[in-house]
Amino acid sequence: MFLIREKSGVKYYRYDTDKFPFVKLVQECFGLSELSKIHEIVGENLNQELFTNENDDQTSLHQAFYQKLNSGWPEFVKVYRGFIKDYISKLLDTEEIIFQSTPTFRIQFPNNIAVGGNSHDRHDQYGWHKDSDPGYNHPLSEKNFIIPLTNSRDTASVYIEDAPDSDTFTPAAMNVGEVFNFDGGRCKHGNKRNKTTLFFHLTMMKITAKIPS
Ligand SMILES: [Fe+2]
Repeated sequence: MFLIREKSGVKYYRYDTDKFPFVKLVQECFGLSELSKIHEIVGENLNQELFTNENDDQTSLHQAFYQKLNSGWPEFVKVYRGFIKDYISKLLDTEEIIFQSTPTFRIQFPNNIAVGGNSHDRHDQYGWHKDSDPGYNHPLSEKNFIIPLTNSRDTASVYIEDAPDSDTFTPAAMNVGEVFNFDGGRCKHGNKRNKTTLFFHLTMMKITAKIPS
């Protein structure tokens, strides 16, 4: 009932941004009226090495988000729990659901990637993985949902394998007000170095959920 389109194996759904004001809450967290300006307030040098698996969530922006969340952020927690209960559970057509207690926050800065890689990764697919790969260890039954907090395309988005082992990839079309679902356990996904000039970066939250077996 919320499905807008299905493209390259990814399902895009609309949600009510008044009922679930994720963007507004994150804007307030950073004191920004536009999240597209978020990279301008970061102190780090953004043109350094690509992020690794160890440091991709260690910037001052990630720390600010998680510190607020971990010290109790009742407005956010209420919206997040409501989203799982009233929206995601309807999408999955279940009343029982196991979900990530807090979402993963991702930012892709200009000239960098959002999810870092390891030294053994292929140069042209640095950080690309399936969530079920060794080291990531997520069960195949897990459902992945991404909530874009900025409109993002091309190299400011996530490249997702069109079907398991197809080895063809399409960047997700990220629009505020939509949430999308993809088979992250079976389809490889990752970022390319962000070279967009129109879409400066990606800001998003990832949620994983599954139905108890
Ligand atoms: Fe992943």
